[in-house]
Amino acid sequence: MTLFACATPKSFDAEKYRTDFPALHQNINGVPLVFLDNAASAQKPRQVLETLTRLYSNNYANIHRGVYTLSQRATDAFERARETVRRFINAKSSDEIVFTRGATESINLVAHSWGRTFLKNGDEVVITELEHHANIVPWQMLEKEIGIVLKPVRIEDNGDVKIESVKAAISQHTKLISVAHVSNALGTILPVEAIIAEAKSKNIPVLLDGCQAISHLPVDVQALGCDFYVFSSHKLYGPTGVGVLWGKKEILNKMPPYQTGGDMIEVVSFKGTTFKNAPGRFEAGTPAIAEVVGLGSAIEYVSTIGLSRIAEYENELLEYATSQLSKINSLRIIGTAPNKASIISFVMENAHPHDIGTILDGSGIAVRAGHHCAQPLMDRLGVPATTRASFAFYNTFAEVDALVAGIKKVQEIFG
Ligand code: ALA
Repeated sequence: MTLFACATPKSFDAEKYRTDFPALHQNINGVPLVFLDNAASAQKPRQVLETLTRLYSNNYANIHRGVYTLSQRATDAFERARETVRRFINAKSSDEIVFTRGATESINLVAHSWGRTFLKNGDEVVITELEHHANIVPWQMLEKEIGIVLKPVRIEDNGDVKIESVKAAISQHTKLISVAHVSNALGTILPVEAIIAEAKSKNIPVLLDGCQAISHLPVDVQALGCDFYVFSSHKLYGPTGVGVLWGKKEILNKMPPYQTGGDMIEVVSFKGTTFKNAPGRFEAGTPAIAEVVGLGSAIEYVSTIGLSRIAEYENELLEYATSQLSKINSLRIIGTAPNKASIISFVMENAHPHDIGTILDGSGIAVRAGHHCAQPLMDRLGVPATTRASFAFYNTFAEVDALVAGIKKVQEIFG
């Protein structure tokens, strides 16, 4: 990789952490990989990989069902991971931590179970124009099925979300506010504290889609005061196939099961069936046992670094990348809200994002190009797609320079 003169990070040894991530140490197209698609999915540290191997090699069996040693070991590891998640987001009780297949399933669970129980025709769900499809489509299904009304909050041209705009979208019919904590496409950090304060003053529950926040910011669900918080493991350096729905216990236990089957029941007879309390009632069937344990390991790993330190370093990376990319005349950053996580979307004159992504890949640089599962946001901002570079704590300033060099190649090709 060609190194350019670059800013020096204040106090964070990204190089040290990089040694924990085997996937980062390979050549792609003959040059060292520069992995800048962390918003789509993050790479995994060997600590997580070793946890998976150890569990599958020595401690694997189905959970909650066996009286034998292996099953008890697997059950203990699984439930320890639940407690690890609880501590990480400061939930009151581990009973409030529901394991799902991912944040998408978590939102679908809330829409399906809470939505179908507590929403009726004419009730309004407030979202924003920058939501991921996973926080739009489940509510659109309820528009069709029960006649709720989805109200997207107008965002600013720079991708910011103003509390005044959220207030303007709230009415006496608003029954839920469901918004991203951080935009996956732009990096905007939403004013969630102000949104929650406004919602609480009107007794409106709030769901936060924490997919992009969970790896970039310290999250404390009790301090936030929201009602539901969802995120996926794979963006938090953990395995795929696992997500979390956190909800207040008193709400979760009023919600009917989303899926039914084994492990979520108390008693089944042909006269009827009774269900466990949360979280069991929402965890039908054999879960992703090893992957949940792997998520616990990923959380332990990032916790040893500390989310505050991660946020501080990533902010330095973001500032540096923003200043370097801003110097390229043919490039326009999409999403310049004052409060952002380490995500930069951009467009270039004459070059389609897919071409940019392909040319960057030739230089070993992995970015995402497309609509980022946020088509309404692309429409709102008047762009068909963007190229997105998303940074993790294992990215370096030299990698920002490599990105800039790669973009200059694009510029040369497309003029
Ligand atoms: N939601 C993921 C992204 O933003 C896949 O890329």
